[in-house]
Amino acid sequence: MMIKTELERLADQALQAIQNANALEDLEAVRVSYLGKKSGFTEIMKSLGQIDPSERPAVGQLANQLKAKIDQELTQKKNDLEAVALSAQLKAQALDVTLPSRRPHGGSLHPITTTVRRVNAILGRLGFEVTTGPEVETEFLNFEAVNIPKDHPARDMQDTFFMGPGIVLRSQTSPVQMRAMQSQPWPVRILCPGAVYRCDSDATHSPMFHQIEGLWVDRQVSMADLKGTLDFLAKELFGSQVKIRLRPSYFPFVEPGAEVDVSCMLCGGKNPTCPVCKGTGWLEILGAGIVHPRLFEIAGYNPKDVSGFAFGMGVERIAMLLHGIPDLRLMFHGDQRFLAQFTGVFRGSE
Ligand code: DAH
Repeated sequence: MMIKTELERLADQALQAIQNANALEDLEAVRVSYLGKKSGFTEIMKSLGQIDPSERPAVGQLANQLKAKIDQELTQKKNDLEAVALSAQLKAQALDVTLPSRRPHGGSLHPITTTVRRVNAILGRLGFEVTTGPEVETEFLNFEAVNIPKDHPARDMQDTFFMGPGIVLRSQTSPVQMRAMQSQPWPVRILCPGAVYRCDSDATHSPMFHQIEGLWVDRQVSMADLKGTLDFLAKELFGSQVKIRLRPSYFPFVEPGAEVDVSCMLCGGKNPTCPVCKGTGWLEILGAGIVHPRLFEIAGYNPKDVSGFAFGMGVERIAMLLHGIPDLRLMFHGDQRFLAQFTGVFRGSE
């Protein structure tokens, strides 16, 4: 009988301790001390063999009942404490889901990209289609095919990177004129934007820069068409107040050839100390001319049937004029403080 009383006393104590436990660790301590290997309960169970065999079943049964009860209470209490802990944790980590989120960095298009897109969009309205050519080009297409034979002095003006025998990094986008003409019958009206390479690097030259080549070939395309097209482009880019002028110049792939200036968009030629035009009133923006008949021959067009104009412009120069960017090198440093200023600038078709 003593044992039964002892078991009941232990069970009462255990249930009391379970009730008093306020944390999961306390509860575990209670379990260990009342049901663990060294607990009074376990001791009693171990000693069951020594008690009177007639009492053994009743004591054993009681012990099992009490143990089951304690187990049940432990589980119940554990669930309660876990629920309390969870709700405390949820409360502590409460999120206000109605707060506006932090905006991700949107990034911005590079001024070279926006300038190319702008020119594409403007001339697209005149029916020019964008095409591209490879940056690794044959020496033949980069030079011979656009009328710059070996030993021609014009080659010196374009210090070229050679990749291997007969293979260059294109020094101009002009070879795309020939690629376009060789791949389709006339009429042709294309723009070719892209990177070009010259072995040249200082404050005003980068070994990699960008050009946009234009080519319009059809029956009776004239200098007047060239001038009208470039005047439209200049006014759309820089404002309706600007004028263009053509100065005679030489490029092997055109005859006649011209350098094209735009009137200074900052001072309009009125400020003798203007930082943009240096008081000249004019800014050179591109080279152009009437396509040399030799190119038509190489392309397989009959020069008697067609005529055309071509132009090539430096994208960085246009971008610098459009945005007042003072130094070419800013374009290539990838400095966020510079690039972030172009967020929201023209992004697509105009
Ligand atoms: N390819 C010339 C250059 O890189 C630019 C150029 C001038 C292109 C006159 C043309 C053109 O198509 O007609 O300097």
